[in-house]
Amino acid sequence: MRTLTTTAIAVLATTVAVTAAEVAPKEVKFDEYGSVETSLTGTPGDPENGAVIMKTKSMGNCISCHQVTALEDAPFHGEIGPMLDGAGDRWTEADLRGIVSNAKKTFPGTMMPAYYKVDGYIRPGDAFTGKAAEEPLPPLLSGQQVEDVVAFLMTLKEE
Ligand code: HEC
Repeated sequence: MRTLTTTAIAVLATTVAVTAAEVAPKEVKFDEYGSVETSLTGTPGDPENGAVIMKTKSMGNCISCHQVTALEDAPFHGEIGPMLDGAGDRWTEADLRGIVSNAKKTFPGTMMPAYYKVDGYIRPGDAFTGKAAEEPLPPLLSGQQVEDVVAFLMTLKEE
């Protein structure tokens, strides 16, 4: 019992520490080109987990719009967005962090969803039902999930 309690406290302490270091969605600093220089969490991203997030429908679901040769084992790749092979050559880590957090800062008017954003959505349902969820809504990805996706994108180099 004692060991269990100690473990539970250790786990709690870790969770709080991670949360405290995380940059909240509203506090993300985009530069004039839409890049985000500072890590959202201070914890390096895990590229393998990033790949899973990009393939998973309930998470990033990036491949519903983008082709990625390195993720060819996943069943469906859309062509709405550009192919992401070589994204790690075309963009810096800060650029990619900005694109994944809120692509509209880099590509105004893009249909790519903002993954780390909690307010400012246009929800036509609001006026009609008055029942839409109150903002802030949870972001589509956590700060660490964004970092994981960015770490995977940085591995996408040509040749
Ligand atoms: C609804 C479709 C859609 C989804 C889902 C989507 N994107 Fe995009 N993405 C786009 C479009 C369209 C562009 C091109 C920018 C523009 O609109 O001009 C783009 C651009 C990009 C770019 C820059 C392209 C380049 O390589 O030059 C990157 C990187 C990117 N997306 C990554 C992602 C990642 C990672 C995810 C998942 C977390 C994702 N996208 C999900 C549509 C999408």
